[in-house]
Amino acid sequence: MDINYKKFKVIVREGYESICAVVAEIIAGQIATQPDSVLGLATGSTPLGVYKKLVGTDFSRVTCFNLDEYHPIERTNHQSYHYFMMQNLFNRVNINPDNINIPSGEAVDFAAECDAYEEKIAASGGIDLQLLGIGPCGHVGFNEPAAIFPKQTHYVALDSSTIEANSRFFESTDKVPKHAITMGVGTIFSARHILLMATGSHKADIVEKVVLGDIDPQVSGSILQLHPNVTLAMDAAAAVKLLQSL
Ligand code: PGA
Repeated sequence: MDINYKKFKVIVREGYESICAVVAEIIAGQIATQPDSVLGLATGSTPLGVYKKLVGTDFSRVTCFNLDEYHPIERTNHQSYHYFMMQNLFNRVNINPDNINIPSGEAVDFAAECDAYEEKIAASGGIDLQLLGIGPCGHVGFNEPAAIFPKQTHYVALDSSTIEANSRFFESTDKVPKHAITMGVGTIFSARHILLMATGSHKADIVEKVVLGDIDPQVSGSILQLHPNVTLAMDAAAAVKLLQSL
């Protein structure tokens, strides 16, 4: 099912594999029409199936910027987002290693790291297509519930709901890093096309809130209601509440 709701282009497919195929096609299409595309990429369980389907796509001229990284964390740590991206995508496609950008969880001067990351995105010409998941608190990137929308790449304390959700990858909750470096809401908003993805019944409530709720920095994804070019790609389980409310 494909429908337009306000500024959102909503795509719903029955299951996880079929929505991943649609999202992978959109990304591959972006690269085919503009081989030197700048992509913003996300980690997490949601895009895993998309990355599998992108193996074989020509990334030779593509530049990638990842949304975020835990801090502190070594890039060799199997829970780092650096490791995740290498394993699940970058080691499996022909991307030029110089074109891989992920905030460093090893940065000592993290304010300088944030500024440099922001500058590098700007110097690349900005992000053509930004892939996003949605966290349990409605975050995009690690833009956690806050009093204002953080504009630029910044250092952030993770919300307890994020720590709880991500503890599934760690031995225990107290092993989850408490901080991260993330693109800001402004950084994300500057992308020319946003590809927001949600899968699974546990995302149904938050999807409805992000799309239909108040535009509120407590739910950072809600800012996307104002973006002119958002594709919202969901499986049926994640879409169920939103579709009932439209
Ligand atoms: P998930 O994470 O894909 O693992 O659900 C999404 C997020 O926290 O943004």
